[in-house]
Amino acid sequence: MIAEVGVALGGFSEAILTTCRPSRFLAIDRFDLHELPELWGAPITDHFGNLTHAEFYRKRFSTEIEQGLVHLLKGDSAAVISTLPDASVDLFYVDADHTYEGVWRDLEAILPKVKPDGWIVMNDYIPAETGLSNEPYGVIQATNEFMVKHGWEMIYFALAYVMYCDVGLRRL
Ligand SMILES: C[S@@+](CC[C@H](N)C(=O)[O-])C[C@H]1O[C@@H](n2cnc3c(N)ncnc32)[C@H](O)[C@@H]1O
Repeated sequence: MIAEVGVALGGFSEAILTTCRPSRFLAIDRFDLHELPELWGAPITDHFGNLTHAEFYRKRFSTEIEQGLVHLLKGDSAAVISTLPDASVDLFYVDADHTYEGVWRDLEAILPKVKPDGWIVMNDYIPAETGLSNEPYGVIQATNEFMVKHGWEMIYFALAYVMYCDVGLRRL
């Protein structure tokens, strides 16, 4: 079972589904991006047409949803994660609120829900939204503090375009 925390348009959901072939995939998001005037420099209707964020995602993955593979979980990420059964998820991919507080809340919620031999993969392990808004991120600080506090280690550091890197964590 894989959970992606922050799915946006589903670009990386598709990569996970194709590459990892999970038996169950949880798509966790507020699904409210359609309320923004624009996204990533383009008017919101260029992305969604007249659909809401959730309608767009459901349409994109309609086959997988019918198969019982993809499940949409709508709401604040930490609150949604806290409703999952303990030790039930093999891999969390974390890419929602990138502030220190947001990442910390997600990680603390994830801790009891990830299986003992499970993985957490953090997206955007970088100091700021480089080249876009340049807003500072708290991903590095929250991830490092989480590893030290709870005894996790970083096993993978995946280089990405302009260093928007993913890192893979597991328990020591
Ligand atoms: C960077 S995008 C995710 C991109 C996606 N993982 C991909 O690579 O294709 C961040 C997403 O997180 C969602 N998000 C941000 N903060 C959230 C929160 N506190 N709870 C739930 N979703 C949140 C946003 O709605 C947005 O869809």
